[in-house]
Amino acid sequence: MEREAPNKPTEADKKLQDELRASGDIPAHIAIIMDGNGRWAKQRSLPRVAGHRQGVSSVRDIVEACGQLGVEYLTLYAFSTENWNRPMDEVSTLMRLLLSSLSDETERLNKNNVHLTAIGDIKKLPIEVQEKLAESMSITQNNTGLTLNLALSYSGRWEIMEAVKEIAGKVQRGEITLDEINESLLSNNLTTAGMPEPDLLIRTGGEYRVSNFMLWQLAYSELYISESYWPEFDRAHLYEAIRDYQSRERRFGLVSEQVRRRSNGGEKSLATKIYETITGA
Ligand code: IPE
Ligand code: IPE
Ligand code: MG
Repeated sequence: MEREAPNKPTEADKKLQDELRASGDIPAHIAIIMDGNGRWAKQRSLPRVAGHRQGVSSVRDIVEACGQLGVEYLTLYAFSTENWNRPMDEVSTLMRLLLSSLSDETERLNKNNVHLTAIGDIKKLPIEVQEKLAESMSITQNNTGLTLNLALSYSGRWEIMEAVKEIAGKVQRGEITLDEINESLLSNNLTTAGMPEPDLLIRTGGEYRVSNFMLWQLAYSELYISESYWPEFDRAHLYEAIRDYQSRERRFGLVSEQVRRRSNGGEKSLATKIYETITGA
């Protein structure tokens, strides 16, 4: 079946996006800790779930804006390992919302050429959610635009622990030696294998912490904290975060003079190249 034409930005928005592309690099991978749904609702004397519901509109807007801007990967922290310990009714409401959002949004994702993936302990999710997720991922698997990567039942420590088990098993079975364990092997055993590390981490809701998110991958990400709660975070906020990112100097442990010396004709800075060589990325 022919896919419908993707949603287009308005003229005014297209102009803003062109300006952003002209003013610096667009991050290849943006990761977002979507926080503040509960506080957004509380401020309006609404139940917490109203904040989670409203948060879905922010997801829609940010996914579309990222796709139009040419961001390659967007990882959204939607549910952490620790979030399972919230009151049972909040957890089940969140799972129902995830299920209905996947049902409602897949067609739109597909239309916008978005490829859906997920990281986390997916088998802990209710079976209906697992099935719907698998279906949405399969429908969008050949799409070539933005990769939307949902972190569900995810934690950074869980992921590193799983990678360690996997690697220890290979050593135990004699498939690799201890000397073959390096950073690139560990990276390739994480759930994000094959994805670049996030260039920009955004956290909404004003908290200055990473809450067990992508502990390995965030080593050299630029951090941006927004005071806005997730339900009010829209593409205008995203553009602001990207403008802020573009004003940073990513040094990867080098000194400024080395960073400013661009490598021969290449797009990437010398610092990025050195970092990629060190990490085997
Ligand atoms: C983020 O919003 C959504 C999830 C963690 C699932 P919160 O629900 O944490 O909202 P606050 O931080 O309590 O305001
Ligand atoms: C982080 O938010 C997890 C997600 C956004 C899914 P939390 O609200 O769970 O984090 P803390 O409890 O403030 O650290
Ligand atoms: Mg929170």
